[in-house]
Amino acid sequence: MPNIQNVNERIIAVGADDRRLELFENIYPLPNGVSYNSYLILEGKTALMDTADISVAEVFFENVAAALNGRPLDYVIVQHMEPDHSATLADLIRKYPNVTVVCNAKTESMIHQFFREDLVFSTQIVKEGDTLHLGNLSLQFIMAPMVHWPEVMMTYVPESKILFSADAFGSFGALDGALFADEVDFKENYLSEARRYYANIVGKYGAPVQAVLKKASALDIQMICPLHGLVWRKDLEFLLDKYQKWSTYQPEEKSVVVAYASMYGNTAHVADKLAEKLVDKGWPVCVYDLSKTGRDFVLGEVFRASHLILAATTHDGNLFEPMEYLLREMVAHGVQGRKVALVENGSWAPMAAKQMQTLLESMKDMVVVDPVITVKSTLAPAQENELDNLAEALVN
Ligand code: FEO
Repeated sequence: MPNIQNVNERIIAVGADDRRLELFENIYPLPNGVSYNSYLILEGKTALMDTADISVAEVFFENVAAALNGRPLDYVIVQHMEPDHSATLADLIRKYPNVTVVCNAKTESMIHQFFREDLVFSTQIVKEGDTLHLGNLSLQFIMAPMVHWPEVMMTYVPESKILFSADAFGSFGALDGALFADEVDFKENYLSEARRYYANIVGKYGAPVQAVLKKASALDIQMICPLHGLVWRKDLEFLLDKYQKWSTYQPEEKSVVVAYASMYGNTAHVADKLAEKLVDKGWPVCVYDLSKTGRDFVLGEVFRASHLILAATTHDGNLFEPMEYLLREMVAHGVQGRKVALVENGSWAPMAAKQMQTLLESMKDMVVVDPVITVKSTLAPAQENELDNLAEALVN
């Protein structure tokens, strides 16, 4: 049975959810699944906005056929060639051999990289500002290079004031029956996953996101249709504000994330004591064990919070790996402008703080506060004052 929903009277959502996949891009856990969105525009001409992942091919093609309801498919717009959206493109062309593939020149070469077989199809190459007329609706193409691949483009429908935004404004999380963000409790059920998606997938590309936000600010946008997650038709300012903050690496709120890498619980104990002291000072605090909570999730939290406490033990003379992995993710994704307190542990030769500092120095505008606390095996009773001083230094 097909599973399609109307975006409006002319546009039908024909994508599908995947709740079985464990790891998105074979690295990011999907506790709530993911949606692969695709939209069919029914006008004088028909146009499909992207295809879908191979894992949902059967329901996707069933949806497309049901939405077309016997009409031919005139165009498929390829906004992004990453396989979670384009793996079914070759099969789509085989099923609808008269379809014209609309894409930019970079995308065309990627189509041939991904599909090495002799695939015969007609192509219409577009560039920034080009318009494709479908009848009463038209598609204006906006190049969005490095958000988050070089060939990415977005598509604006001026008559409907809709932006098809490719991966931007997307989220992890299956749609659970809802199509629109205003049909769910987004802050409660999706915001954390939207942030984790942004930080890990797009986070490195703040400057390109800023460039496309600037282009978008010149458009009258009343609806955003991303390739993952919910469609936005209300309160777009909320989402745009998040993207403004995330893409400029500004924290969303004054709060503290405490992340620790602890082997026997003694470093964790110090992290917990610091968390208590910060809560006593009235600060919101979240504590994460990096051996348990994925670094992808904590990276999202780092994008959210203004202040960090990083506590790590020493392992074979090096920084204990769970903390090293987090810091390398922070470097790779361009994290900057956070105030950081450090705690290290080591029973005979503590080295963790030095190595954390080296990684933090490779990020922009990270402020490490004094004192750095060094614990030898367990917190000594005389060190209680050091914790008070560090908590005070971090938030004042
Ligand atoms: Fe959802 Fe970059 O693909």
